[in-house]
Amino acid sequence: MAQQEDHFKKVISHAKEYGYIFGSSEIYDGLSAVYDYGQNGAELKKNIRDYWWKSMVQMHENIVGLDASIFMHPTTWKASGHVEAFNDPLIDNKDSKKRYRADVLIEDYAEKLNQKAAKEIAKAKKRFGEAFNEEEFVTTNPRVLRYREEQETVLKRMARSLEAEDLADVKALIEELGIADPDTGSKNWTDVRQFNLMFGTKLGASAETATDLYLRPETAQGIFVNFLNVQKTGRMKIPFGIAQTGKAFRNEIVARQFIFRMREFEQMEMQFFVRPGEELKWYEHWKETRLKWHLSLGLGEENYRFHDHEKLAHYANAAADIEFNFPFGFKELEGIHSRTDFDLKAHEEHSGKKLQFFDHELNESYVPYVVETSIGLDRMFLAVFSQSLEEEELENGSTRTVLKLPAILAPVKAAILPLIKKDGLPEVAHKIIDDLKWDFNVVYDEKDAVGRRYRRQDAAGTPFCITVDHDTLEDERVTIRDRDTMEQKRVKISELTTILHQKIDFKHWMN
Ligand code: GAP
Repeated sequence: MAQQEDHFKKVISHAKEYGYIFGSSEIYDGLSAVYDYGQNGAELKKNIRDYWWKSMVQMHENIVGLDASIFMHPTTWKASGHVEAFNDPLIDNKDSKKRYRADVLIEDYAEKLNQKAAKEIAKAKKRFGEAFNEEEFVTTNPRVLRYREEQETVLKRMARSLEAEDLADVKALIEELGIADPDTGSKNWTDVRQFNLMFGTKLGASAETATDLYLRPETAQGIFVNFLNVQKTGRMKIPFGIAQTGKAFRNEIVARQFIFRMREFEQMEMQFFVRPGEELKWYEHWKETRLKWHLSLGLGEENYRFHDHEKLAHYANAAADIEFNFPFGFKELEGIHSRTDFDLKAHEEHSGKKLQFFDHELNESYVPYVVETSIGLDRMFLAVFSQSLEEEELENGSTRTVLKLPAILAPVKAAILPLIKKDGLPEVAHKIIDDLKWDFNVVYDEKDAVGRRYRRQDAAGTPFCITVDHDTLEDERVTIRDRDTMEQKRVKISELTTILHQKIDFKHWMN
């Protein structure tokens, strides 16, 4: 646990030191849960977005893109159910005056039970060594069984109470479990209340005529309201998808864990429109396809797992998260939701317009069902960045800090380093840059000894260093060094573009 916390602290400070993420308006002491992406962060974010867009839009003949506005007609949010139901259950501690999400307090309690069970298993593993049969142990050991049973009971009761809007029972559960304020230990709680997460704003010149608007809390509604526009103008046939990336805003009360939970963030969403009755088949298809996308980046299969929702959102008939092993444990990275025909039907009712598809094969019109894939770009950034950051022990006993970002996502693909600052080596390095910069983001670095420059680029996440030395002047060859293996190879300058293309080719990564 302490090791995890330590790693997380390093992630945050490394992200700042190397120009990835800064606190928003830091010179004024920042704004809670709002962040800015620096020179490297903006590139990494763009590369993740492109990797998603290419895999969803370019690779699927039946998926097209969209860029809808953040402001939408206010009725959108009535129809979608966000005005009524986009709430978090909040509870205040009367002594500390701190505010918490009631469901998060209960989930944290349940997670502690999970950790107690894991501790029992680890202890037994140590005691029995090779002979340890984990499957038998977890199904027979009374303590593990008790912890797991209690965990399940607690989560089920919470889900039931939230589903039934029984906030008194949510409070009763907190009191029965003896949950205390994590900061002060006080158990003096207020009642649980619902709090709407949408940010409101106004459109118009004068207070009397201004219209109340919301900043969109999800990008999905921009897709639903354009369903007919895209279907007609793109002559799309079911099944087909509309993909979009863009900002979303939520007034998160418990905003913590760095860029994991932000108030302003970016989503990458795709709505896939299908025949009614076929949605669960497509739901399984998209679960599998999205997991494959994650695995293609090579961050380790063991770091992903599915979590099926017990409490379904008001619009879903099936839902699962792809969870990632963040520095603070497994948490939601992406959601795959079978949203039924809820949204399109609701927009039909509120707008009075038909949002249907005429299916020539069936010779009938219907409101399509929707399967959605929805991932937070910032959360994906955190997954990639935190998993890539390593303190690596080297054979000579020293350590190096290395940011092993997947090369296709790295902000800078190569650093060009003249061995020394004279004898014509910088000129050759600049010529190489002039050639490579048409295809790749590359940088020039001549300061310090070459070993220190390698370390600097390792820590910044640059996958390749290309060194120009005195032999280059004779043989037109340079040394290319791989960040992860530290292997060095002598190659022709004329082959550099081809070599780099091979290493960061989309086809190579996605296949
Ligand atoms: N359209 C469906 C939807 O918005 P969601 O589960 O509320 O579903 C989808 O959000 C994804 O957006 C999440 O899996 C997460 O990656 C990201 N996300 C949600 N709230 C976020 C926040 N406050 N900060 C950063 N990312 C967030």
